Amino acid sequence: MSDQQPVKQHGDALENLYHEHRSFPPSAEFSAAAVAQPELYKEAAAEGPEFWAKQARQLLTWDEDFTQTLDWTDAPFAKWFVGGKLNASYNALDRHVEEGRGDRVAIYFEGEPGDTRTYTYAELTEEVKKAANAFESLGVSKGDRVAVYLPMIPEAVITMLACARIGAVHSVVFGGFSADALRSRIDDAEAKLVVTADGSYRRGKPSLLKPAVDESLLKDGHTVGHVVVVKRNGEPVGWTEGRDVWWDDVVSSASAEHTAVPHDSEHPLFILYTSGTTGKPKGILHTTGGYLTQTAFTHRATFDLKPESDVYWCTADIGWVTGHSYVTYAPLINGATQLMYEGTPDTPHQGRWWELVEKYKVSILYTAPTAIRTCMKWGRDIPGKFNLDSIRVLGSVGEPINPEAWMWYRTVIGANGGKKEIPAPIVDTWWQTETGAHMITPLPGVTATKPGSAQVAVPGISVDVVDEMGESVPDGSGGFLVVREPWPAMLRGIWGDPERFKETYWSRFDNMYFAGDGAKKDEDGDIWLLGRVDDVMNVSGHRLSTTEIESALVSHPSVAEAAVVGATDETTGEAVVAFVILRGSAKDDDDIVTTLRNHVGKEIGPIAKPRHILVVPELPKTRSGKIMRRLLKDVAEGREPGDSSTLADNTVMSQIAESLRK
Ligand code: WTA
Repeated sequence: MSDQQPVKQHGDALENLYHEHRSFPPSAEFSAAAVAQPELYKEAAAEGPEFWAKQARQLLTWDEDFTQTLDWTDAPFAKWFVGGKLNASYNALDRHVEEGRGDRVAIYFEGEPGDTRTYTYAELTEEVKKAANAFESLGVSKGDRVAVYLPMIPEAVITMLACARIGAVHSVVFGGFSADALRSRIDDAEAKLVVTADGSYRRGKPSLLKPAVDESLLKDGHTVGHVVVVKRNGEPVGWTEGRDVWWDDVVSSASAEHTAVPHDSEHPLFILYTSGTTGKPKGILHTTGGYLTQTAFTHRATFDLKPESDVYWCTADIGWVTGHSYVTYAPLINGATQLMYEGTPDTPHQGRWWELVEKYKVSILYTAPTAIRTCMKWGRDIPGKFNLDSIRVLGSVGEPINPEAWMWYRTVIGANGGKKEIPAPIVDTWWQTETGAHMITPLPGVTATKPGSAQVAVPGISVDVVDEMGESVPDGSGGFLVVREPWPAMLRGIWGDPERFKETYWSRFDNMYFAGDGAKKDEDGDIWLLGRVDDVMNVSGHRLSTTEIESALVSHPSVAEAAVVGATDETTGEAVVAFVILRGSAKDDDDIVTTLRNHVGKEIGPIAKPRHILVVPELPKTRSGKIMRRLLKDVAEGREPGDSSTLADNTVMSQIAESLRK
């Protein structure tokens, strides 16, 4: 069967996942040369955790070998590769140089204005050594936390690896978060150092970062001793003498000699804050040995990585976990060559990404459905102007990819606008900040891929779909996604809050990790992700908590009450829609909507600004006072509200409808 022909075609397939029956087997040629072969699944099933021990020893260089693969006696707190010692930065850098790969390009950097830089492994190693010396000279030592608030520039990767080198724990805060959000993360982790930049470029204009750092540190009571500032766009910045130092002054002048000391396999590598179901973001904690093993393994197997010849490009910002695992760590651990791009996809024109693919001959592209849908909207003529022939594997992450976008990705990007006879396989990778690395994904030389499904667990990973009672559902049914066995890259907890860790992930079902996603198994047992089942929204692949935005709204003096829902959106997956009840003294006019949107922007960040804010007289609540977001979602999505019989006051929905007609 030709790779272009679907195995089974169903009439109206595109709209409805339940009717999506197409499947595309890998080409014989791809399979024959693939990194991951079908035996991997059998091996992993037969070996249990020892499968991971084998990967750990093959993929990483250990200063001291481990004596125990997994210690699960203190479940759900796992220890992997107990007794082992290694250095993440040595594994990502020095060893490649020592083994003769120093001249290989590690990073091709392309700035939004078109400036470029290339770092070989030898050069990147030198930069990281200098940064490690510089941070140490500023008083950072093993175990200290470092907040990183940087744009997508090589210094971001250098900073993370310099922290890892000295055993400091980085906490990267996405540049789109506000000063308040940055401060709460600095405080929660008690960061000693902040590394930032004057700013970056956004849609052709300089954008600023340093002012937010200054604002975040205005109030006393923080733990920050120094702020290191990278000069990126040259915009004037405020300066606090004694606290602020230029990267160029401290890093450039530092010694390029720095020995990486071994750290325990379970030494904390980083904290990354993510939204949960309550207002307060969770500091997800990852440690060293297990995290590096699973990220490196999946990066090779999922993307069929051939480090000598591939040019890999993951478009994620380092502010998200994808940027941690699949920009900073795995590609460098694996000795890959990668592209890093600073800017937006439509600057200076909507073909920028495809121009970059052509220019750098990108062979593996990893991006998010929201970006694919945006490109679809702009039209296939735009990528059609560029030669995308180099692409041989495509990845997707962040949210369910709808079959229509999947097919577009396959044909327009993966088959170079249809000019290529055999399109590149698509791997739809399901995972989370908490899981650290891919958990469910096709393997490109093995799995017959299905548009819209992440399909199968990674070899060595045990996932399932269970019902309310925690019983495994039969094929053809839906339920909740769980992970049944501990995995190497699993989070080791929530920073400073062990109880919340147990409660959030381990209390819903006995001895299973509750992911918070709905899923179904199809007739073949393949897994389809159906979105979050909790109060977490997914906007353009970014996790936002409804409660967090509600708290931000209610913190404004004009707001009495607020309820936030994620409404389906063609491009961004979900969009934030807020319903607010104003205080008696506040005026309901256009200004209040603008004021409140900006207020949320200030409290959390521009990404959290509601698309719509609807002022309503009441909110639908049950007798126990719980807001029925389901009904509000109906309103936000323009449907007749569903069953409202459990409302305390059943006139509320008509009051809301009435107020919105005005
Ligand atoms: C969603 C991003 C469907 C899911 C790596 C998960 C996905 C949340 C997929 C984690 C996918 C991620 N298919 N849904 N391939 N990948 N998700 O922590 O709801 O930012 O729980 O990690 O994104 O988001 P996070």
